[in-house]
This record gives sequence, structure tokens and C-alpha cells, in this order.
Amino acid sequence: MSDSQTISAAVAKLYNTYPFPPEPLLDEPPPGYNWRWNWLAAYNFCTGQKPQKQDIRILDAGCGTGVGTQYLVHLNPTASVVGIDLSAGALEVAQECCKRSGAKRVEFHHLSLYDVEQLSGEFDFINCVGVLHHLPDPIRGIQALAKKLAPGGLMHIFVYGELGRWEIQLMQKAIASRSALCAERPPSK
Ligand SMILES: C[S@@+](CC[C@H](N)C(=O)[O-])C[C@H]1O[C@@H](n2cnc3c(N)ncnc32)[C@H](O)[C@@H]1O
Repeated sequence: MSDSQTISAAVAKLYNTYPFPPEPLLDEPPPGYNWRWNWLAAYNFCTGQKPQKQDIRILDAGCGTGVGTQYLVHLNPTASVVGIDLSAGALEVAQECCKRSGAKRVEFHHLSLYDVEQLSGEFDFINCVGVLHHLPDPIRGIQALAKKLAPGGLMHIFVYGELGRWEIQLMQKAIASRSALCAERPPSK
């Protein structure tokens, strides 16, 4: 196995064990609104114009448990949505999440971002939230996505930032040093 395959296998194992996000499944459309998942609003924000079409194709790349995917379906009522993920466990939850919330114009594929060319056609809107930093080669990942973007399309990308994760990193250090202390000390009786 190459280093890259070892990392991807470890990432898939992590998200099979802890599918993310671990949100409760609802039997109705999700209650919130995020303009970045609405084609009309996002297109207008990026270009200052109204998009020429609404019957677009959306790709949710690294969809996890489908919480964002169901928003993409419900907030874009004439779009068709495709979700892909490396984790079969997360995809199982995503299918159930969309089924229960009544998100019908969606299909899922067990596929890495690296292999996205296996999907047919291009996408007008590619959503990739919290995923690229997990790839052994994020540049290769974003290049693979870019090849599937239709002319004039939009990509919504979110990656972890050093500053934004400052508190989490502090907590990780604290847990690591506590674990090291526990390993040094024999358990008390
Ligand atoms: C932090 S979760 C984000 C889930 C979802 N996008 C969200 O924002 O709720 C990261 C997801 O990326 C997936 N992932 C990681 N590497 C991937 C790859 N190479 N191809 C496809 N999915 C990948 C993981 O399996 C996991 O479900």
C-alpha cells in the first residue's frame, strides 16, 4: 500500500467509526438556512448577477452524513444533487438522512474525490466542506474537482484554518499530555 492509500484508508476508517456530523435525523426538512448552499444567493454574491439557470447539477464532495446535502436539496428545489464520500458508513447515514427529510433529488456514490472523473457530466455548483485537508494531496483533490466544474460554475470550499482551530489544538495538546501522564503512572487500586 502506498502512503497515500494508507492515509485514505485511515481517514475512511475514522469516519466509518465516527460518521460526521453526528446530528439527529429529522423526519422533516432541516430548519435552518445557509445562503452559501443556495445557488441563487451564492451566485449573486460571487458575480453580482442572477444565474441563467436554476435546474443545475450540484456535487457535494465529501458529503459525510448528508446534513449539508439535504440542505442543498431543499434550498435548491429544481437542482439535482450528487453526494460522494470515502466512508461507506457515513454514506449509509446520508441516505437515511435524506430519505427521512424528504430530500428526493439526490444520489450517493462511494467514491474518493480523486476518482470524481468517474461521475458522468459536469456540475454547476460543487460544495466541498471540511474535506480537502483530509486528503494526502489536497491540490490533486481540488484539481480533480475543478475538472468537473461546468463553465461559469461555483465551488464552495471550506478547510480548517490554523487560527480557527487554535482552541481545538490546545485541547488536543492537553489530552495528549494527560494521556502521556496516565501511561507513565500505574493504575491506582
Ligand atoms: C469533517 S467530514 C465533513 C462532512 C460534510 N462535508 C460536512 O461538512 O458536514 C469529512 C468527510 O470527508 C470525507 N473524505 C475524506 N477524504 C475523502 C476523499 N478522499 N474522498 C471523499 N471523501 C473524503 C470523510 O469520509 C468525511 O465524511
